[in-house]
Amino acid sequence: MEPTMAAVARAAAAFARRRTHVAARAASTVSIAPPPKDARESLQALAQLRGEVALVTGAATGIGRAVAQLFVEAGARVHAFDLAPCELPGAASTVRVDVSDVPALTAALRSAIDAERGRVDHLVCSAGLWTFGDVDETTEAEFDRLIGVNVKGSFFALAAVLPAMKAQRRGSVVIVGSDQSFVGKPGQSLYGLTKGATAQLVKSTAAQYAQLGVRVNAVCPGTIDTPLMRGAVRQIARMKGQSAEGEEDLVTWLKTAQPMPRLGEPEEIALAIAMVSKVPFMTGALVAVDGGYTCQ
Ligand SMILES: NC(=O)c1ccc[n+]([C@@H]2O[C@H](COP(=O)([O-])OP(=O)(O)OC[C@H]3O[C@@H](n4cnc5c(N)ncnc54)[C@H](O)[C@@H]3O)[C@@H](O)[C@H]2O)c1
Repeated sequence: MEPTMAAVARAAAAFARRRTHVAARAASTVSIAPPPKDARESLQALAQLRGEVALVTGAATGIGRAVAQLFVEAGARVHAFDLAPCELPGAASTVRVDVSDVPALTAALRSAIDAERGRVDHLVCSAGLWTFGDVDETTEAEFDRLIGVNVKGSFFALAAVLPAMKAQRRGSVVIVGSDQSFVGKPGQSLYGLTKGATAQLVKSTAAQYAQLGVRVNAVCPGTIDTPLMRGAVRQIARMKGQSAEGEEDLVTWLKTAQPMPRLGEPEEIALAIAMVSKVPFMTGALVAVDGGYTCQ
């Protein structure tokens, strides 16, 4: 059906209102990272973190360690945080802290920022726990343990860096999500809940702080060969009463669960995190790095 003149006029008015709104928003934008001049400059920016300050939680093992290592190699001043001792040659500092202990976490992150005279370019939240089990057998203590590390730990790490990032009108936060930020899996109601919460935290804060120059994204790994993943396999095999052979069968099954029939490496996630940390127009994104698991 042909649109009437009135309908066309209404649509044009709505379009004009939206243009005004967008223009007003652009005018109020303070100082956000400008677009790079060309692709070569973007590539150089990706490879260069020289002099930039990065705070990484969960940096003792797995994905967090790979990120911290990559950032050190790219020239960043890396402050590494973990419950376990971090061995990270070249790090500006390594700090033992429980990310679910909010006062301790806040003090540790703020003290690293103070040591950098208020500068912080990157926060990467990789500290995390995994669990498996039925909803009706999950205890309140287990619920609080998972929420404490996976949700509270990321939320309050972000809260701790925001004043400095807002003041400098620049900063990138990357929280490690999961394929379970997108899809559900049996036995994963509690872990999946924490990763769904991560996705929402990223989207809400990205929307709120974009105009202050603070970008917030999630990199969402599939099955990555880390101590967490090996522990998960051991736990499932034990629950099923299986031996070490059963564990290997589970790993083989995990390898074939995605179109790319292998496990991911922590360094691949670190590379994605470095990329997301450096792309100026990227915020509120949930980036799957999962060998195609969530495209099925
Ligand atoms: N490995 C995978 O297959 C996979 C898949 C999807 C998402 N992830 C997510 O990636 C992140 C990193 O996992 P990973 O596989 O590298 O695991 P990992 O166990 O190798 O590393 C996690 C790190 O977090 C630290 N940590 C745990 N509790 C802590 C606490 N209370 N305070 C401070 N540090 C604490 C651990 O000591 C460890 O060094 C997690 O958020 C996890 O949920 C992992």
